[in-house]
This record gives sequence, structure tokens and C-alpha cells, in this order.
Amino acid sequence: MQNLDKNGVVELNGQATVTLDTRELKPGFGVEIMNVDLASADEETLKAIIDTFHRNGVMLIRNQHLTPDELSAFTASFGELESNILKQFTVPDHPEIYILSNKVVDGKPIGAHFDGVTWHTDATYLERPAMTTLLYGIEVPPEEGDTLIADAVGAFNALPMETKTKIDGLQVLHSYRYFTETREYGRRQLTEQEKLDTPDVVHPLIRKHPVDGRKALFLSTGAMQRVLGMPDEEGRALIKKLADFVTQDRFIYRHKWQVGDILMWDDRCTVHRATFYDDKKYTRVMYRLWVKGDRPF
Ligand code: SIN
Repeated sequence: MQNLDKNGVVELNGQATVTLDTRELKPGFGVEIMNVDLASADEETLKAIIDTFHRNGVMLIRNQHLTPDELSAFTASFGELESNILKQFTVPDHPEIYILSNKVVDGKPIGAHFDGVTWHTDATYLERPAMTTLLYGIEVPPEEGDTLIADAVGAFNALPMETKTKIDGLQVLHSYRYFTETREYGRRQLTEQEKLDTPDVVHPLIRKHPVDGRKALFLSTGAMQRVLGMPDEEGRALIKKLADFVTQDRFIYRHKWQVGDILMWDDRCTVHRATFYDDKKYTRVMYRLWVKGDRPF
């Protein structure tokens, strides 16, 4: 019988076998695990890391030196990997590692630039949106280009009862086409084949965490096209009001990047975005991996 506390102590038959060195990222939200080398972590340590992640929702591990193979293997220990719909910005031989960057090599951009600068949850335009996102810092600007992660469970709990009652049971249409054709950066028209490959999906506005039933606001501002049963303008105003609520400073962890950082979050209970940086002066290269999720309910 295995037990684990919030700080990552794995107990087997009552005996602690691995104790991780941890601290909160901000009071009550997120965890940093210190003094681990993921390239050489043994099975019990890995198990403790996975459990610690699930108990905290956001996890930081600094100073890592992982090859693409090692990075994919580590991420795959959380579940099945999900490749991005777009294939052109991936690491050679690794379609599951998507590059976010402003870097241009031999006249060609190597990654998607300013890809996640509005508040969103990853891949909500899929029937089964991402469960977990991992970002690995390869090159980071010395200022800005931060990642902000908001606690969508804490925010839901803090909503006035009247709002909770009003939004209970609402369903939202999420659309890859709407997301791609209206976004500020990387905007383009979908091909006919892409439209067929990415049908719109409907997800609840409030989702329950499949592990413990915690309720979270399920928001992805760019992909949410309309709230079912509501005039478009009213639906958009509601989404904006909720997004403004969730993204108050009190619910946010702001991550300042260092090279070698691994930052992971549970997309079932968080909302995130990147901040802008001076892309004429600085270079930012991130590797991003997704773990497949379940259908939200
Ligand atoms: C993302 O939105 O998936 C990436 C955020 C970032 O680049 O910090």
C-alpha cells in the first residue's frame, strides 16, 4: 500500500522510501521540487514526482539537462503524449515536441512565435483537450517572456454564489477554426482538409477534476466561440468577465524563466498565458509537450 503526502514522501508499507525536497511556488498553489536530476532519477523518485505533480497542479523543477528523448520519456510517464495539430515547428524526429520561439535559422522561423499570449487552456478545441502541459526552457529572455498560471479551482471557489448559480450547467462551443482565424499572432485561414480534421466541440464552462471532483472554471479565451443558448455578445461578455476574475493577481503564479527549467501544469484546473518580451532584442526558445486528457465533464 502506497501513501504520499503533499511534499512528496512516498511510503511503502509504512516506510518512507523517497523524500523529495519541495517548497510552494506561492502560498497554497504549486510546488517546486529541488535537488533532482531527471536524467538519472530512479523509479521511486519518478513515482514521487508524478504524485507530487498531481497533488499540486503546477510543478517546477530547475536545472535540468535533458535530451529530446529523455524529455519525451519523462513526459510520457504522466500519460500518452499528444502531438500538436501543426507539424512544422517540431524537433526533428520528435513530432511530440513543439517549439515556441522567435528564433530564425537560415531564414526560417524554428518555432511558433507569441503562441500563447492570451489566457487559455491548451487544445480545448479537441474533444479530449490536453491534460498536462510541460514547458522546457532552452533559451530565455532576461526580462519578461514569463509564463503566468492561474488557479482555476481557487478562482471558481471564490466566485460569488450568484455567479456560480448563473453559470452552472452552461456549455460552450470551442472551435479550432475560430481560434486560428481570429487570433492576433499566427492568424490564418484553415484549409478544407484542416476544417474537416478539426470539428467544433462543446465543453462545459465549469469542469470537474476527474481525480477528486474539484470544480474549475474551464476557460480558453481564443477558442471559445460562443456560449450555447446565449446571444453571441452576451456569451463573450460573460467569458471576458470570468477570465478577468480568474486572472487576478491573487490567483496567479508568475514564472520567471531560467535555462533548464521544467514547468508543468494540470490543464484541468489551471489557465495560463505567456507575457510579451522584446523579441528584437532577446531570443526565447521553449520546448512544449502535451499529455492527452479526458473529455471534460
Ligand atoms: C503555452 O501557452 O502553451 C506556452 C506559454 C509560454 O510560452 O509561456
